[in-house]
Amino acid sequence: MSDYSSKVAFITGGSRGIGLAIARELARIGFGKVILGDVDEEEGLRASAKLRSDFDTESAFIQMDVSNESDVVAAFQEIREKFGRLDVLVNNAGVAQDSFLEKLSLENWNRVIDVSLTGTFNCTKQAIALMKESRAGRILNLASVSAEMGNIGQANYVAAKGGIISFTKTAAKECARHGILVNAIAPGFVRTRMTASIRPDITEKIVAQIPLGRFAEPEEVARMARFLVSEENTYITGQTVNINGGLYV
Ligand SMILES: NC(=O)c1ccc[n+]([C@@H]2O[C@H](COP(=O)([O-])OP(=O)(O)OC[C@H]3O[C@@H](n4cnc5c(N)ncnc54)[C@H](O)[C@@H]3O)[C@@H](O)[C@H]2O)c1
Repeated sequence: MSDYSSKVAFITGGSRGIGLAIARELARIGFGKVILGDVDEEEGLRASAKLRSDFDTESAFIQMDVSNESDVVAAFQEIREKFGRLDVLVNNAGVAQDSFLEKLSLENWNRVIDVSLTGTFNCTKQAIALMKESRAGRILNLASVSAEMGNIGQANYVAAKGGIISFTKTAAKECARHGILVNAIAPGFVRTRMTASIRPDITEKIVAQIPLGRFAEPEEVARMARFLVSEENTYITGQTVNINGGLYV
């Protein structure tokens, strides 16, 4: 069993949902420092306090918008000053603003791309600089089954997530020489606030198409995330791992 007590993990969009489940999974296996970065300060501070009380981990919250470069630079500066290193980055922050393509506003197009794709770029760029110093690191990006299948009403979202899959391949090739492994996970439908607003009749139709017959729980995604960012993963890089109950095979 590896000793992660000196390791530092940073999870964007970590205040709730999949990001928080990943943060909790890393705290559970002994990560000494689990830092959450999120726009939502109230939820983030609460989640961070609960991490400290539930696990033997030091947890901090940094309020930030991943799409804003100066927020991201300041967040990584804070990590460098307080913790001196970074072992794991999870680029999890994302938003969905669904609309049929013909009605999709440029504003909604840009917002979804800015948070998911540009946010992933902004954080990865800063993380490489820190991880290079220890010649090791793991970066995990959140893609989606929607990017692989295409999904009605989600042109902005699938473009962002498809971009993340391609970005992951290039980042993996560039980072390999620094000992940094970069992967993505592509969840199917996961029970979080993001999917809570799907109409019940639509949810029923989606579930009917999922061979395992249900949405995933965030913890089921977090277990694969944990493996990919752990020291057990020594040779997987540039990949997108599907966690979708058989929806897309
Ligand atoms: N829920 C699903 O079915 C599903 C499926 C595939 C992929 N994903 C992806 O997984 C990730 C997490 O999704 P979730 O379902 O947990 O969503 P969620 O809405 O429950 O959580 C998203 C978190 O990101 C934060 N966030 C939003 N914009 C941000 C910004 N600009 N900067 C920093 N933080 C920001 C939110 O405050 C929130 O805490 C997203 O990238 C999402 O696209 C989700």
